[in-house]
Amino acid sequence: MRKPILIANWKMNGSLHANQALLVRMLAKLRPFRKAVDLAICPPFPYLFQVRDLLGYTGIALGAQNASSATSGAHTGEVSATMLQEMGCRYVLVGHSERRSLYHESNADVAARFRQVRSAGMTPVLCVGETLEEREQGQAMAAIESQVQAVIDETGVTGLEGSIIAYEPVWAIGTGRTATPEQVSDTHRALRQFLESHYPGMGEAIRIVYGGSVKAGNAAELFQSPEVDGGLIGDASLQADEFSDIGTALA
Ligand code: G3P
Repeated sequence: MRKPILIANWKMNGSLHANQALLVRMLAKLRPFRKAVDLAICPPFPYLFQVRDLLGYTGIALGAQNASSATSGAHTGEVSATMLQEMGCRYVLVGHSERRSLYHESNADVAARFRQVRSAGMTPVLCVGETLEEREQGQAMAAIESQVQAVIDETGVTGLEGSIIAYEPVWAIGTGRTATPEQVSDTHRALRQFLESHYPGMGEAIRIVYGGSVKAGNAAELFQSPEVDGGLIGDASLQADEFSDIGTALA
């Protein structure tokens, strides 16, 4: 039985004041289902200390939005996985579509970042998803499988054990347009079958979450499929009521 998980991706948003107000309200509203659902908050790097302190002993995990593919050294602007682990991070997003499209992270680069997160003892959240053009050309699964295959090539299929995959169709991120519940369920199932073909048992064991314009109003239908183990939430995670209502739909 896979435990549901809800992850907040704050992206490049927040301030010390806003974070405090958001989390104080959010933590109160998340309390009722904190045990039924794994919860994680991924703030921008500068706020890791503040959010870690505000999360305190709530059981809500700290996460980061990326990690370097290098371990240390002359990599100006990068943050290493070991530094994130030292900050108290338990999860790290890798391969978010914005990293791939805006900052040109290749499948191989994402796989190297995935390996660093694993090596530092944290749980990678591998973000995969197709563009609208790939979906319309019937190439969605080919695109997604190539993103996962790059990680398998880097770490071996067992490197995926215990990690999380976030299916985020690029055309649904920040657009207000979500994939239909059928598209989500079908894609998650196809992903599980792909993983099973590499390593029997892996497809059933791994948690696959959906991200892309999830709101309180559509969460229940998006999460209804047994193929969906939770959500990776962007914009709605910046509103305490919205994010906790999404959590209620998952619990
Ligand atoms: O990582 C989650 C994010 O890409 C989804 O963003 O704003 O569509 O929930 P949003």
